Amino acid sequence: MSNFIEIKNLTKNYYNQKKKINVLKNLNFKFKKGFIYSLVGPSGSGKSTLLNILSLIDRPSNGNLIINKNKIDFNDVKLNDKIRSDYFGIIYQEKNLLSDFTAIENISFAGIANGKSLKESIHISEKILKKLGLKNRSKHFPAELSGGESQRIAIGRALINSPNIIIADEPSGNLDHKNAKEFFKLLLNLKSEKRIIIYATHNRFFANLADCRLQLINGKLKSINARK
Ligand SMILES: Nc1ncnc2c1ncn2[C@@H]1O[C@H](COP(=O)(O)OP(=O)(O)OP(=O)(O)O)[C@@H](O)[C@H]1O
Ligand SMILES: [Mg+2]
Repeated sequence: MSNFIEIKNLTKNYYNQKKKINVLKNLNFKFKKGFIYSLVGPSGSGKSTLLNILSLIDRPSNGNLIINKNKIDFNDVKLNDKIRSDYFGIIYQEKNLLSDFTAIENISFAGIANGKSLKESIHISEKILKKLGLKNRSKHFPAELSGGESQRIAIGRALINSPNIIIADEPSGNLDHKNAKEFFKLLLNLKSEKRIIIYATHNRFFANLADCRLQLINGKLKSINARK
């Protein structure tokens, strides 16, 4: 089983009015392709911080991140933008679709940004919308979508470049239980032997649907009920 993402002695400190906050303390972990990981922990335990480092949005204070055998140089912003676009699909809690663009445009843009032609992006987006059961919402603007529909479009946008890694930070945080269940059904269906899915959640039921449950507590990462 290949270790596609590895963190080595990963540490993250924040400084607030000269006071040091040691959020992540020397974390070591290997994420394997084909597995789904949930990330739990109290509010403020560092879940978003860890996910933002894994997806190259934030940088660690110390330690290394290795993706597909390449050690990430956090100073190489250009390369990291390319790695993010090639490997990652990212889904956030808040609605973060572009408000002036339709559902299909929101999905397509991520493809165009990755170097696909407009035609190809639209073609893939149409297929994705169909898969997500949202073909009839293709021309809707974000304000004309329900919360559940918006999050499904966010899955679509994360999917357009067939990512090896899907990162979702409390993706169902703003949804009611029915829509959250629907969302996770779609998300977990994206499991494949070529892919790692990592999501943070406060919901125990959804956390337990993963293959491996990770818990962040006092800056340390614990792996619980790993089914490996
Ligand atoms: N830019 C920053 N500057 C200073 N402190 C920060 C910064 N960003 C986050 N923190 C602190 O780091 C800690 C971890 O924050 P983080 O957002 O990763 O927590 P979380 O586990 O995602 O919480 P939640 O469940 O509420 O989303 C918190 O104590 C937060 O206040
Ligand atoms: Mg968070």
